[in-house]
Amino acid sequence: MLLWRGIFNIVVCNYVTYWHNSRAKNVAASEDRNYSSPVATTQRDKQFIRAALKEAEKAEGQTSPNPAVGAVLVIDNRIVAKGHHRGPGHEHAEIECLRNFDAPVPARATLYVTLEPCSTVGRTSPCTDAILKAGVRKVVVGAVDVNPRHSGKGIAQLQNAGVKVRNGILAEECARLNEAFNKWIVTRRPFVIAKCGMSLDGRLTRPSGEPRWITGAPARRHAHHLRARVDAILVGAETVRVDNPRLTVRDMRGPRQPWRVVLTRSGKLPRHARLFSDRMATRTLIYQGKPLATVLKNLGKRDVTSVLIEGGGEVLGQALDARLIDKVQLYLAPVLTGGPVIAFPGRGARNAMNALRLRRISYQQIGQSVCITAYPKVGPSE
Ligand SMILES: NC(=O)c1ccc[n+]([C@@H]2O[C@H](COP(=O)([O-])OP(=O)(O)OC[C@H]3O[C@@H](n4cnc5c(N)ncnc54)[C@H](OP(=O)(O)O)[C@@H]3O)[C@@H](O)[C@H]2O)c1
Repeated sequence: MLLWRGIFNIVVCNYVTYWHNSRAKNVAASEDRNYSSPVATTQRDKQFIRAALKEAEKAEGQTSPNPAVGAVLVIDNRIVAKGHHRGPGHEHAEIECLRNFDAPVPARATLYVTLEPCSTVGRTSPCTDAILKAGVRKVVVGAVDVNPRHSGKGIAQLQNAGVKVRNGILAEECARLNEAFNKWIVTRRPFVIAKCGMSLDGRLTRPSGEPRWITGAPARRHAHHLRARVDAILVGAETVRVDNPRLTVRDMRGPRQPWRVVLTRSGKLPRHARLFSDRMATRTLIYQGKPLATVLKNLGKRDVTSVLIEGGGEVLGQALDARLIDKVQLYLAPVLTGGPVIAFPGRGARNAMNALRLRRISYQQIGQSVCITAYPKVGPSE
């Protein structure tokens, strides 16, 4: 019986491999179609870079300190293989994609990749070598790698070897996917997202005695997804003392847990707080008496590429005063609470000209709350 099952498995495996290889070879052998106009070429490029972006998004938040990258191989306007980078030590997207194709790559195939292929040896060997070795003759790139070690070199290496490279297709979307990595790899400082739920009058808490949440459950669920995409969540000690938060990612399959970072001057922290006593306790870092900028610099050295500041007000105010914020994600609830805990107290701007102005603003209604995401008009260090 076991013998028959073994023979059956070998036959099925061989058939699947044969079917896959012959499909790849058929695709490789069919007629090349040229695209007549540059407009059609651009449209097609956008379509396939979008598909590569979808691939990249599969591992968003899981690849740090590496970027999220996706790739698709296209022959005769059809995607014949896909791949994405799954995290440090794993294959790069282009390599996974070419491996999934598992057949000689015909000269008319085009490899679409959201980020410029790497050209140097890191944890893996250079993707440019693998691309050339596979016989790929056309490559379309989303964004140029901002990493000074790679920037432009991968593209130049491919072009020098006679590969046709089109570059900058949906570059903004591709770069935005790795906004945290792009800042960290150049400055070694983490990308900082300031997030909180607040009342319409800019308060972080309801009057004592009432439930502590300001926003509704849908907004809190939405905010929770943000945690799954960052490397660390930072709060002030008062938030730990009052809220006893867990600062973990829950109800999601397989996400990494971010570091949990607490700032304190006094060192007065409840020993039994969840952050110090739950099963993730080793993922909690305490910084005592350090300016926020120093803490961020230190986190950057630990390969933390993104930090979510979840409050409270004092810490958010410091981040604003020191212009350390790269992005805001605020949830506004239809309630007026009054009271002392303001969302961004700090010193405040000296005058209207010095206020932090925002751009690329998006508004999204979530339940009864409104989520506003935006980016400072000038970089925090400018
Ligand atoms: N609605 C929301 O989204 C939200 C989010 C978070 C918190 N909250 C609420 O906000 C309230 C707490 O906010 P808060 O403004 O009063 O306090 P906070 O910002 O949570 O914490 C302030 C404390 O953090 C420490 N700290 C701040 N900056 C520091 C620095 N640079 N170096 C070292 N330590 C530093 C100090 O701790 P020590 O006193 O130990 O020296 C300070 O007293 C709570 O009621 C909480 O429920 C609301």
